[in-house]
Amino acid sequence: MIAVTARLVVLVSGSGSNLQAIIDGCASGELDAEVVGVVSNRLDAYGLVRADGAGIPIEPITPLGGEERQTYDTRLATVVERFAPDWIVLAGWMRLLSMAFLERFPERVVNLHPALPGELPGTRAIERAWAEAEAGERTESGVMVHLVPDEGVDDGPVLGVATVPIDPHGTLDEFAAAVHRAEHQLLVETLAELCSEPRPESRSRP
Ligand code: GRF
Repeated sequence: MIAVTARLVVLVSGSGSNLQAIIDGCASGELDAEVVGVVSNRLDAYGLVRADGAGIPIEPITPLGGEERQTYDTRLATVVERFAPDWIVLAGWMRLLSMAFLERFPERVVNLHPALPGELPGTRAIERAWAEAEAGERTESGVMVHLVPDEGVDDGPVLGVATVPIDPHGTLDEFAAAVHRAEHQLLVETLAELCSEPRPESRSRP
């Protein structure tokens, strides 16, 4: 069997530190993959600057005023499809994707969530975990990488998990930094494993 470097398209909405971890993982060889495109729903996402600086094609796709979610998702899917990705990575992508997008890429959309499976779905998971710890309701949280089969929020077959302890004598900033370090590591490790496996068959090359 001939090994083919996996093609990744990364979707970002913000800073893109997880995108940076992927770019660095590809450069170091830890990840046998290439980021072939970075797409953002926000023009001001710093992740676009990171990608551009690394010579990766960028596609800002901002929602038009009054645009239906499904119409946007169909437009988004068409742009992503042109990159012929093996895997689509939601790395700080802060927009729910409908089936209009997901059904175009079955079993190849991967999401990163800064909490353990089944916990704290949605935004501000780190802050909510911290608040629960302060209330004496938890002593740890974590991060997970999972497949996105449908419109369930931060839910789907789990590909990788790491726990992060919460130090009751620490600060929220320290805990958030620990979660982000865990995310960067888990995302690259999990993608490395995925990219070393045979890919789903339905990918089309341009
Ligand atoms: C990460 O914590 C991710 O899990 C969450 O948003 C943050 C994005 O960070 N959904 P970055 O843009 O990768 O720096």
